[in-house]
Amino acid sequence: MPISRTSSKPSQSGVEDENIAILGAGALGRLWAAYLPADTTGFVPRNATTLSSFRLNYRLQDSDGREHTIVRRWLTGLSGTTLLLVTTKAGDTVDALAEIIDRLPESCPIVLFQNGLGSQQEVADRWPRRPVLAASTTEAANRPAPDRVVHAARGHTWIGALTGNAVGLSATVIRQLSRSGLEVRGEERILERLWGKLAVNAGINPFTAILDCRNGDILESSLFLDHIDALCEELANLIRAEGLPPHSPEELRDDIERVARNTSANTSSMRGDFQGGRATEIDYINGYVARRSRELGLAAPVNQMLTDRVKQLVSHPSH
Ligand SMILES: NC(=O)c1ccc[n+]([C@@H]2O[C@H](COP(=O)([O-])OP(=O)(O)OC[C@H]3O[C@@H](n4cnc5c(N)ncnc54)[C@H](OP(=O)(O)O)[C@@H]3O)[C@@H](O)[C@H]2O)c1
Repeated sequence: MPISRTSSKPSQSGVEDENIAILGAGALGRLWAAYLPADTTGFVPRNATTLSSFRLNYRLQDSDGREHTIVRRWLTGLSGTTLLLVTTKAGDTVDALAEIIDRLPESCPIVLFQNGLGSQQEVADRWPRRPVLAASTTEAANRPAPDRVVHAARGHTWIGALTGNAVGLSATVIRQLSRSGLEVRGEERILERLWGKLAVNAGINPFTAILDCRNGDILESSLFLDHIDALCEELANLIRAEGLPPHSPEELRDDIERVARNTSANTSSMRGDFQGGRATEIDYINGYVARRSRELGLAAPVNQMLTDRVKQLVSHPSH
């Protein structure tokens, strides 16, 4: 496993013209940085002039439980960047990109890793001529301490084009990301894949945050049992209205319950954000469903209720 690799010289590895920049040095960004080659991967700082060190050091616990020390550069220039991974939270993505995009080569593929939907469209609408791709990943990382990242589960990452100029670039992006040793594949129907993940997140995450419980514990709760059928109906209606391949409410409920059972001991990212006092991504999950449904003349009261309740939790935390 190529974690923390520092020895491969660009000229020997044949990657002399590849430089991967990561915007968002949180759990997922640090995970990718740890697996990608050290000599061609670095983080984009918020403000290069205030950096106290040119290197970022942290510990990674890999998916087999082994500990690694990771050292990666903070990048002071972006002119040679051949791939930008954006691993900020959905709500920060447009502003974070706006701060740096003028320093990025026009041809540099930009890969968005955000969960949910809405932030990807905001980026593609704002920079339609940039080669923008979306990633949907089942890799799981968390950051129990500022200088420590845990690779909680190995998964797969699917990459697909969002803007016209990104069509045909998946292969070059996959080649660069595959140097990590993580599983990366092309996905022509990336929106469908993002939708599949959003539907499952919409049926699990807000319940875990409101009930402050693990994923599996929602299944017996009255909040879940009282609302899950209507929630799935709202999702199925919107998926159909978007012109995506239809899913019945029953299929969606089966998917949600299967994932909740298979990850029963896990804390969802939304519950984790709430517990950590951070903003959640509810606006890009149930909030997106409610907003998009309104735009298309559909009702989505359950998604709106869950969005409101999660927002209330965050503004009035009980602990
Ligand atoms: N973690 C996972 O396993 C996983 C899996 C699939 C998808 N995702 C998605 O990936 C995204 C990131 O998740 P995460 O868990 O890595 O979140 P995270 O730990 O909160 O990381 C986000 C990082 O972005 C940084 N950031 C925010 N604004 C910035 C700016 N203007 N310039 C530079 N950096 C900025 C934050 O810095 P500060 O902390 O200083 O604000 C933080 O370090 C989310 O949309 C999530 O849904 C995560």
